[in-house]
Amino acid sequence: KYEKIWLLFGIISLLAFTVTIGVSAFYMGNQPPSCLVTVDPTKLDTTAPFDQPGLKQVGEKDYELVIVASAFNYDVGPEKVIQVPVGSKINFIGTTKDVIHGFEVAGTNANMMLEPGYINTVETTFNKPGKYTIVCNEYCGLGHHLMFATVEVV
Ligand code: CUA
Repeated sequence: KYEKIWLLFGIISLLAFTVTIGVSAFYMGNQPPSCLVTVDPTKLDTTAPFDQPGLKQVGEKDYELVIVASAFNYDVGPEKVIQVPVGSKINFIGTTKDVIHGFEVAGTNANMMLEPGYINTVETTFNKPGKYTIVCNEYCGLGHHLMFATVEVV
């Protein structure tokens, strides 16, 4: 009689572990590490670093660009054109005030989604001079095609 209880207990704990591992694997698999940082999309105006969008130099050729997307604009600071010297690495740090927006720096590997409530980051190094257009590649409404900014590498 006691064996049966222990056997049942064993089976239940095995099931519980399996479910736990399954659930965490499922969630982890669907959440790239960069999406795990959350932010309140209604308080971006007072939440660092999004209270001051724009370019910050953090090393010799090391930059951070803070982006606040909204329908239908990228707030990347006072200028729509970001200028950096050739060879610069930019860490793009973005979020959105409203709906999901895309963020793609055309001609580079920088491509991510900006989701309300999450901070996403992507990093890329600009080794060739030129103008790189930042475009929204996620349909977000009527002004979708109006969303852009530019990285100018000189
Ligand atoms: Cu923002 Cu499409």
